[in-house]
Amino acid sequence: MEAYDAVARDYAAVFDRIELRTFEWPWIRNLVARERPRSVLDLGCGNGYLSGALAGMAPDICALEPSPVMCSIARKNLDGAVLLRQGAAESIPFGDRRFDMVISLLSFRYMVWDRALDEIRRVLKSGGVFILADLFAGSFNPLYLHRYAASWAAARIHCVRDREYYKKLRALTGSERWRTMLGEHPKRSAACARKAVAEQFHIERIQLLSAALRGSTVGFVCRNRTLSG
Ligand SMILES: C[S@@+](CC[C@H](N)C(=O)[O-])C[C@H]1O[C@@H](n2cnc3c(N)ncnc32)[C@H](O)[C@@H]1O
Repeated sequence: MEAYDAVARDYAAVFDRIELRTFEWPWIRNLVARERPRSVLDLGCGNGYLSGALAGMAPDICALEPSPVMCSIARKNLDGAVLLRQGAAESIPFGDRRFDMVISLLSFRYMVWDRALDEIRRVLKSGGVFILADLFAGSFNPLYLHRYAASWAAARIHCVRDREYYKKLRALTGSERWRTMLGEHPKRSAACARKAVAEQFHIERIQLLSAALRGSTVGFVCRNRTLSG
């Protein structure tokens, strides 16, 4: 059984549109607009909302998702707009140098990093970009006080504006299934991720996207430095 099978339906019901990713989506959208990739892989695509949003921005979008339950939700949502495959980052079912860009939005946490990074590098073209945005373990940093406040306020405003979303979010995060799943996949630190990624990629940029006491969302822009291909 895959990590997300037990929570897939509840998760997909809460996060049903990419705009709910207030911090991550504008950042990713700008990077895609700047890089203008022709081929993109959405790695750990969940219900497919990112792939769906990218479909208008690049001609060749593929999506990969290991959970059969999540995959069937994505298949329904995407309705053939992108090429969706079931599989995991540690063994990507696409050929070498297939993509200009690979994006992992909130899925890296669940991967075996060294194996997944090997595979991401393999499927990326030379000079291709790996964009990673995920939640990492945090510890209190007084220098980030203004960022904690800004991120908290942005999240609160969202919840106040959209009561239905807030209700569903509370139900999801309060559920035993959700807590069990997260407990089995504890957050790791951004410093560890940076070390693992730097072994395989040239890291061009690391950006704090949102900050909270219990963890922060960090974005990495990484370039494939493989010269062949
Ligand atoms: C928090 S959800 C994020 C889904 C989607 N990217 C989004 O932004 O909503 C994490 C996703 O990572 C997927 N996942 C878990 N292990 C994975 C792996 N080894 N390779 C790729 N995806 C994985 C899960 O099945 C789940 O769909």
